[in-house]
Order: sequence, then C-alpha cells, then structure tokens
Amino acid sequence: MKIAPSILGCDFARLKEETDSVAGSDYLHVDVMDGMFVPNISIGIPVVESLSRATDIPLDVHLMITKPERYAERFVKAGASILTIHIEATDKAHECLKQIKALGAVPAISIKPGTPAQAAFEYLDEVGMVLVMTVEPGFGGQKLIPECLDKAAVLKEQICRRGLDVMIEADGGITPENIALVRRSGVDMAVVGSAVFNAKDRRSVIEQLRRAD
Ligand code: DX5
Ligand code: ZN
Repeated sequence: MKIAPSILGCDFARLKEETDSVAGSDYLHVDVMDGMFVPNISIGIPVVESLSRATDIPLDVHLMITKPERYAERFVKAGASILTIHIEATDKAHECLKQIKALGAVPAISIKPGTPAQAAFEYLDEVGMVLVMTVEPGFGGQKLIPECLDKAAVLKEQICRRGLDVMIEADGGITPENIALVRRSGVDMAVVGSAVFNAKDRRSVIEQLRRAD
C-alpha cells in the first residue's frame, strides 16, 4: 500500500520540518481549496512551488476548486507530479486531463461521496489515478464513510476488466484501525492526514499503514 501524508494535518508554520518528518513517503498530498467547491480555503500555487523545491517527495496535488481548468497549467508548472481534479467541479474534465498529461504530470480525477463510481468510467482511459473521497471534501479529521470503499472496489474491478494501469487512491478518515478495510477494497494509495501528523512517531505510523493487507 502506498501512503501519501496530507499536509492539511500539519503545522503550516513549520512546513519544512513537517514535510521532513514524513520523508520516505510515496507522495506528499497537498489539498488546495477555494472556498467555493468546498466550504474551506487552504493553500495554493506559491506553497506548491516552495514545497517542490524543499522536498524530494513527489507532490500529489488535490484540487478542490471550481473550474480547475483555469489553474491546472500553473499547478503542474509549480511542481505537481499528480494533479487531481474533481469531475463535479467542471464540464471540461476531458480537456483539462489532456492538458495535464501534455504538460507532463499524471492526470487524475476525484469523486465525492455522493458521486457514483460509474460517473468515473468515461475517464478511466485518460487518467493515471482515481481518487475516491471517503469523507466530504473540505476538512481533515473526519470519520471515514465505509460505503465509499464499495465504490473503490467497483472501480478496481472495471480497471482490471479493461486492462488499464490506473491507481486507486482513497482520501479521508483513514487510520491504522481501518487501513485493512481500505486495502481490501482495492485501494493502492491511502491519503492520511491527522492519523500521521497527530502521531509522535510519524514514520512508524506510516510503516504500519504500508504493511496493511
Ligand atoms: C479533505 C482532504 C483530505 C484530508 C485528509 O478534504 O482532501 O486530504 O487532509 O485528512 P484526514 O486523514 O485527517 O481525514
Ligand atoms: Zn485530499
């Protein structure tokens, strides 16, 4: 299981130390919120730029913003390795994914808890990853909604049936207590915010999460 610590759970005044404390993670998950698509505002392009200079961990940037096509290019140029857009946030998802790929990043889509897995099917040929939200996007520290994991299993089955190479990521409420359930649903990469950053020994929590099966 790949693990992507979410910096939404960290102390932003100490971003460099916090990032270093999770060195060796597969990706660093960066939540971008615009106060429109979700009822919260987090961070944006300058922080992604600084982070990409400050760490070797590849950046997994999760755009929770309306009309992501307006900013996709700037986020890739700022250093996103994976750039995820929500299909609920745009009617130009296909064009936007093409653009992300052409710029050299891995294009990815995300679905909120209320969006059926089937809504993602038409994008599977164009993405390198599907992010299944396991909480309502907007805030860290919420409880995982187990029904969302059923959608991960449906997507995994569809990806295998079509012989595609697409990762499934789950995001929200993931802890050492429920990671086995997440893994069994076919999830390849888990985003973990509070369970990592609230822990004293972050690396050992990451190792514990990684070993889930
Ligand atoms: C929520 C964000 C998540 C969040 C996860 O909108 O997309 O990435 O940081 O945090 P935890 O693990 O605390 O639910
Ligand atoms: Zn996220």
